[in-house]
Amino acid sequence: MKVGVLISGRGSNLKSLIEACAAPGFPARIVVVVSNRADATGLEVAREAGIPAVAISHTDFPTREAFDAAMDAALQKAGADFICSAGFMRILSDGFVDKWRDRQLNIHPSLLPAFKGLKVHERVLEAGCRISGCTVHFVRAAMDEGPIVAQAAVPVLPGDTPETLAARVLEAEHKLYPLALRLIAEGRTKIVDERVVIEGEGTGSVPPLFAPRA
Ligand code: GRF
Repeated sequence: MKVGVLISGRGSNLKSLIEACAAPGFPARIVVVVSNRADATGLEVAREAGIPAVAISHTDFPTREAFDAAMDAALQKAGADFICSAGFMRILSDGFVDKWRDRQLNIHPSLLPAFKGLKVHERVLEAGCRISGCTVHFVRAAMDEGPIVAQAAVPVLPGDTPETLAARVLEAEHKLYPLALRLIAEGRTKIVDERVVIEGEGTGSVPPLFAPRA
């Protein structure tokens, strides 16, 4: 599978995907990284790994559709047949989402469908949740919605701040995203009635997709 990764910033999930793809036998490789911000440090992460990295500023385009078309062209040019969004902070046009339907993943730092959107960790703490986590899901038109591939649970600890909780969740994200991508690239998932069915799940042949920390 030839993956294009969309980013807007730091790129730590991108790094975890790059490292996973470098492992012998991993069934996917990253062919291009696209950022809507030229100053995204993730672009540097990509270049250091020898992966083509492109900045396409959304501010250079009159409409969302025009920006998405430029992004799509960059993905096509690189030969990408799958997309991983990793901290990409733009809403996508319906046309782009439809074109890449069932071929685009996103990672979100909560146990969806709870806490969609921004300022997740602040809101988790404010709500007094005991557990949080992260979700990898297929992308649909509505933000942070779509068939769930994998989730990991993380405890909320006394004294947590948004920053300490974010760091704990991020650690889980870095394990979860490569795991989800591997399952899909191996062709072991299908979407049935907008739910992800994983071949072999429950038989012991698939590592736990719900991964509570001890
Ligand atoms: C992650 O927490 C991801 O879940 C969210 O944005 C953050 C991106 O971080 N969508 P990074 O750029 O991968 O370090």
